[in-house]
Amino acid sequence: MGIDFAVIGGTGVDHPELLGRLRRERVDTPYGMVTLTVGEISSAQVAFVARHGEEHSVPPHLVNYRANIWALKELGVKKVMATAAVGSLERKFVPGQFVLVDQFLDFTKGRPATFFTGEQGVLHVDMTDPYCRDLRQVIVEKAAEAGLEVKNGGTYVCTEGPRFETPAEIRMFRTLGGELVGMTSVPEVVLAKECGMCYAAIAMVTNYAAGISTTALSHQEVVKNMASMDVMLRELLAAVLQVLTPERSCDCPQAPAELGKF
Ligand code: HPA
Repeated sequence: MGIDFAVIGGTGVDHPELLGRLRRERVDTPYGMVTLTVGEISSAQVAFVARHGEEHSVPPHLVNYRANIWALKELGVKKVMATAAVGSLERKFVPGQFVLVDQFLDFTKGRPATFFTGEQGVLHVDMTDPYCRDLRQVIVEKAAEAGLEVKNGGTYVCTEGPRFETPAEIRMFRTLGGELVGMTSVPEVVLAKECGMCYAAIAMVTNYAAGISTTALSHQEVVKNMASMDVMLRELLAAVLQVLTPERSCDCPQAPAELGKF
């Protein structure tokens, strides 16, 4: 039985409450070694990757995104649910809420952001739907059944970090259509797309962004609010993982197939 599904998130996503029969796996990739946890839910195998490392010690700009995604590709993963803390740029996205991101604006600066580094020629991956529509739909439906509010759609601005933004930057992002701000979705979503995986990002609104909030932002506030959403998040992930199937009728697998070289 293959490992069809994965969750990428903070440490603790592989909570024993969520999964049975946990085991560790080490995957050697061209970008470095990845240690992940594999568990079972409703007879499906799920890989859990702690994005910031097992000790939560790797800051967002130094995460080895390519190694993480390559490891999942090696395991045969088809569908990925990623969790991400975000600040809100719009009053309609309230701290404590979950939002399924549907678009991104990329303001990262110095990250290796592609597998297409030229050896295979010039390749461009389609980004019309960066976040899989079908996977998002399943998440929305399961959330509704579980009585959890999840908003479907929001434009995520990815900053380089690790510092928070200035209020002037947040005003600029709003003008450009940004609604949520975080530091990890790019290049993770891009790399997943390059590998033909379905990828959905469940954003957890932990705070109003700088200048929207009347008080200064603190890392502690973000951590505290994430922790308070943890139980709901696990409930949501479990509900979705119970019904996910490896079959796909979306366009995600076509992304690399169309390129024909990867
Ligand atoms: N900015 C960037 N990243 C974040 C924020 C924020 O306000 N909140 C949680 N992650």
